[in-house]
Amino acid sequence: MQILLLGAGAVTARLNLLLAEHGHSIAAQMAAFTPSHLDLFDFQGIVVVSPESAVSTESLVQAAERGKVLFVVAGTGDGLAAWANGVGVPAFAYPIAEVESDRLLAEIRRAEAGNLAADEQYRRAVLGSDLAARLGSGMAIRKIAVTSPKGGAGKTTVAVNLAVAFALSGVTTYLVDADANAGAIQYHLRLERAHTSMIGLLRRELAKPNLSTTMGEIASGAAYLEAFTPLDDLATLRVLPGLVMDDLSDESLQDEERITAVLGGLYEAGVSSGGVVIMDVGINPAHVVHRAALRLAEGIAIVIKPEIPDLAETRRWIARMLGSLSGMVGRQAAYEFVGSRVKLCYNQVLGKDFKAAHRTLQAALYEDEIDLSLAPNGVLPMVAAHLAAHGVNSDRRDDILVWRYKREKLEELEGYTEALLSFATHFVPAVREGASRAGLLISPHGRPRSNPFAWLRKLLP
Ligand SMILES: Nc1ncnc2c1ncn2[C@@H]1O[C@H](COP(=O)(O)OP(=O)(O)O)[C@@H](O)[C@H]1O
Ligand SMILES: [Mg+2]
Repeated sequence: MQILLLGAGAVTARLNLLLAEHGHSIAAQMAAFTPSHLDLFDFQGIVVVSPESAVSTESLVQAAERGKVLFVVAGTGDGLAAWANGVGVPAFAYPIAEVESDRLLAEIRRAEAGNLAADEQYRRAVLGSDLAARLGSGMAIRKIAVTSPKGGAGKTTVAVNLAVAFALSGVTTYLVDADANAGAIQYHLRLERAHTSMIGLLRRELAKPNLSTTMGEIASGAAYLEAFTPLDDLATLRVLPGLVMDDLSDESLQDEERITAVLGGLYEAGVSSGGVVIMDVGINPAHVVHRAALRLAEGIAIVIKPEIPDLAETRRWIARMLGSLSGMVGRQAAYEFVGSRVKLCYNQVLGKDFKAAHRTLQAALYEDEIDLSLAPNGVLPMVAAHLAAHGVNSDRRDDILVWRYKREKLEELEGYTEALLSFATHFVPAVREGASRAGLLISPHGRPRSNPFAWLRKLLP
């Protein structure tokens, strides 16, 4: 493993030799560590010799966010040892004795073999073990499709920001481009290379001879996880871009049963590894890929602008969805499916204009004799055009709106980030708490409101 060794003393010097002897390469050895070193050196792990170095837990958390695995060597009374033990970072006694150095070498091997997962370390480092555990057990909806009945409403922007918000908040997140008409995830995520793409995965799976189902299923879990491309700057986010999705009209790609099995495999693989899966699903719900992604989702985020054309398309979309589901599972079950899975997300909202829009939509549904009462689960404000554009145009993927807010705390992005996280709590209730521990939100319960009667309290005894 390539290691950044932090410390400048006799024990660190000894460790330097020992690590090299065991085939590890030391990218650098230094006494003080700051996050700027993350861009200066190429390494996967950090070994901190606490008494011989100066390093803050905040900068270690930032390193964990970037997927670096951490190892701490510290004395018993050392604050860093207490922190490491609290968040589950492997810690070793200082000065390091032979047994402990064997244990350190074994832990590094485990990390190399992928058994000390970088995303788990980030989650625990940023959230603490208590919240990390609670987050995992409290995920209400883990298979999420983001779609919209009309193009340009903002589904890719919502899918990408939702994914980044989850990932920064400690939730392992698998983002899938399942838009057969206008896949764009690779641009949003600034991906130059990818392990594979949706089209690549479908081609590969559909070319296979029919395996017996159980054998196929056993082999596929790990294979689906491998299809995702990890990011080097966010350990908790993995991406499957769509790339040349227009090829999905290929004759060879019309086997609905197998396409459904692949999409189901992607959802299952992400969920069984403890994460959430977000699919960006194109506007036409009749396309085989879209149909499978929607049918297998536990939650369907419908992104709409509060404008008549979007509302009209949403009305038609819901009617069509109910119609086609009723044919398959009956009217009652179709209503239950749509009523429980659909989460409306108004986007590009100015002021309170979504309220009238929502009433219009609801009235139109009743007019169609669709007795379904839907709530506006998400209300995302319009952000300034230059900010939205920068979110996709710059050469930094951490300019994605919520990621940029975490870094720069721009006031113009605060409302958007707050609203996006409120929407996210419909899927993972503890995510706001994670976001606030990760420094993405200012407070876990929304912005602290000033009390208009505070002056009065001062006058009282
Ligand atoms: N909340 C928002 N405020 C301002 N512009 C937005 C917002 N959400 C999306 N946009 C912009 O709307 C356009 C369409 O967004 P996109 O996510 O590509 O939509 P879709 O995937 O539904 O086609 C893009 O130019 C995007 O920057
Ligand atoms: Mg899109």
